Amino acid sequence: DAGGRRVFGLTAAPGTSAFLDGLATPTWGYGGMPFGGPTLRARRGEEVVVRVTNRLPETTTTHWHGMTLPARMDGGPHQPIAPGETWEASWRVEQPAATLWYHPHPHGATERHVHRGLSGLFLVDDDVPVDLPDRYGVDDVPVVLTDRGLAPDGAFDEQHRNAVGLLGDTVLANGTVAPYLDVRTSRVRLRVLNASPARSYRLSVGAPVSLVGVDGGLLPAPRVVDDVLLTPGERAEIVVECAPGRRMVLRSLPDDLGAVNGVAAAAGGADSLDLLELRPADRLEASPPVPAVLSREAPLTEGSTVRRFVLANNRINGLAMDPTRVDEVVPVGATETWEFTNRHTLPHNIHVHDARLQVLDVPAAARAWKDTVAVAPGTTVRALVRVGPYADPEVPYMLHCHLLRHEDDGMMLQFLVV
Ligand code: C2O
Ligand code: CU
Ligand code: CU
Repeated sequence: DAGGRRVFGLTAAPGTSAFLDGLATPTWGYGGMPFGGPTLRARRGEEVVVRVTNRLPETTTTHWHGMTLPARMDGGPHQPIAPGETWEASWRVEQPAATLWYHPHPHGATERHVHRGLSGLFLVDDDVPVDLPDRYGVDDVPVVLTDRGLAPDGAFDEQHRNAVGLLGDTVLANGTVAPYLDVRTSRVRLRVLNASPARSYRLSVGAPVSLVGVDGGLLPAPRVVDDVLLTPGERAEIVVECAPGRRMVLRSLPDDLGAVNGVAAAAGGADSLDLLELRPADRLEASPPVPAVLSREAPLTEGSTVRRFVLANNRINGLAMDPTRVDEVVPVGATETWEFTNRHTLPHNIHVHDARLQVLDVPAAARAWKDTVAVAPGTTVRALVRVGPYADPEVPYMLHCHLLRHEDDGMMLQFLVV
């Protein structure tokens, strides 16, 4: 509305999808969609109000992944929505343009709720002019990737068969099997979200692409890359160059995820998957070149406090998630150095709520705003972590592995921002 307030209603409800010919798959979705959810969108400076109604048969929550916001609005395990109830979250968007998302976060059941289909994008816009393709659904296209195992009767396979979580061999883009995109411009920007519970994707179109953004916003400058690894929860914005009439396929290539062979294969790392076919028209509208400068946001500078987190056996620092225990207390607005060490044979990643972070020990050009980072077996990732400006002495934020089976298993800690 005129006061810069954006009000959304979002209902989570069961539905029925058709993924296999002639078979009905029971699914869950948001906003009247049987699977997935509508893209929410707001501008920096606007106040957002989302009224989430739960029409599911069980308690859920709705978390705004990547958003800096008060802990009570975070939608983590401490903001349950009982069946039949409506939860209202409101906050002011105070962060740069980015591709964020939302999904359930009920303690111990996140993987199942997300796997049933609950997830959607939340795009943040800002007023910084940058000449990237921005016509939603035309040359600025969301690609929400998620994989499912389908049983012969069409139902989702919810059996755990490996140590990373639910993996399937049917990949859906925006809830669609065997998806394709009709392209009408010479460049197309894909906002790719890995909404899978456990699968990582190494994205490639078989030609170099410009990586222009990741989790928390645009890069300082585009990077020309052959492929991009996306672990669960991560996002990448890529600009793909298309030639008239020449089809291309966005694929996921094998990646060992830094794990030894057997482990990598069990984690899906040996799989090659077709994700999305791009079908350029015979005549393409010319798109402007990718700008040389994308963001002038100042990088974080060295943090004061150092915190260390050791990942092993689906625990962090030997601890399992305890909703009644506070594990870390971080001063409001602080920038700190956090170190994540994976002492496990399994690949993990780490997602920090409320925070924007930048991985250290990478070339300056690769310095990007993240909220979820891969931590391969046997490695340490150091990151500058800046928490938001909202203090709350009671309600914690979460940090956890975004392989949802691990999160549910307790690979999650709680921190207060005070
Ligand atoms: Cu995307 Cu704590 O989650
Ligand atoms: Cu999150
Ligand atoms: Cu993990």
